[in-house]
Amino acid sequence: MTVAAHPATTRGREITVTGIDGAGKSTLAARLHQVLNDAGQPAILVGKHSTEVPMDEELSVYLDRLNALVYRRDARIAQACGDHYWLLALAAWYTLQDQMMIKPALAAGTHVILDNAHHKILARYAVNPDVPTRLAEQVFAHLTEPDLVIFLRIGAREALARKGSFSSLETGHSGDGDQDFIRYQDTVLTQLRAYERRDDWLSIDVTDMDRDAVFKVAADALDARLQLAI
Ligand SMILES: Nc1ncnc2c1ncn2[C@@H]1O[C@H](COP(=O)(O)OP(=O)(O)O)[C@@H](O)[C@H]1O
Ligand SMILES: [Mg+2]
Repeated sequence: MTVAAHPATTRGREITVTGIDGAGKSTLAARLHQVLNDAGQPAILVGKHSTEVPMDEELSVYLDRLNALVYRRDARIAQACGDHYWLLALAAWYTLQDQMMIKPALAAGTHVILDNAHHKILARYAVNPDVPTRLAEQVFAHLTEPDLVIFLRIGAREALARKGSFSSLETGHSGDGDQDFIRYQDTVLTQLRAYERRDDWLSIDVTDMDRDAVFKVAADALDARLQLAI
């Protein structure tokens, strides 16, 4: 019998967290990342500020420049560029993050926790009459399919109570009052719910759940669905 000197690496798992602003995505993603690493299961946390490509300074600098263009700009520029541009710019950002960070990590056997996949962007564009929904779906269609999408479901009013404050983007640039946040985020929530019956989605009503309870449900799902014991 021959034993391979280097057994094939088992591919890592990709777990993404979605939900409206204030649902608790970043809180859960950070905890899952921490607990996986503590359990000796290498994992990276990828979010909208992650720009470090392991052992590649040049690509990291490039990714950071794109991040600055997409996420670090003022309202006047956002307005001047328009909705089509921002869809394509976001698609460029998600494409490079997938290509340079997520795919290589998964191939090396490292798990990926993605804080905020592109689903919320799809939901935002689905309620935008100026951009065809099909176009928005197509520009993200090539991204790596996550093994599990954890959808943290909560109403906009409750999410606002958790957050306290919000940005103009979080009202869909519709105004600066609480009602503007609530109206916009509830529309996004309705759109997200259109996906929640998919097999690879785990939809959790987090309205009355504290951080520990949310983590417990998510951790149990990682074990039951992906055989990732943490
Ligand atoms: N289960 C929870 N119960 C109460 N507050 C929470 C819970 N999860 C997160 N929070 C708090 O709610 C706010 C928004 O959480 P965050 O993780 O930043 O949400 P998101 O990333 O979805 O916008 C933060 O102040 C966070 O500490
Ligand atoms: Mg967040």
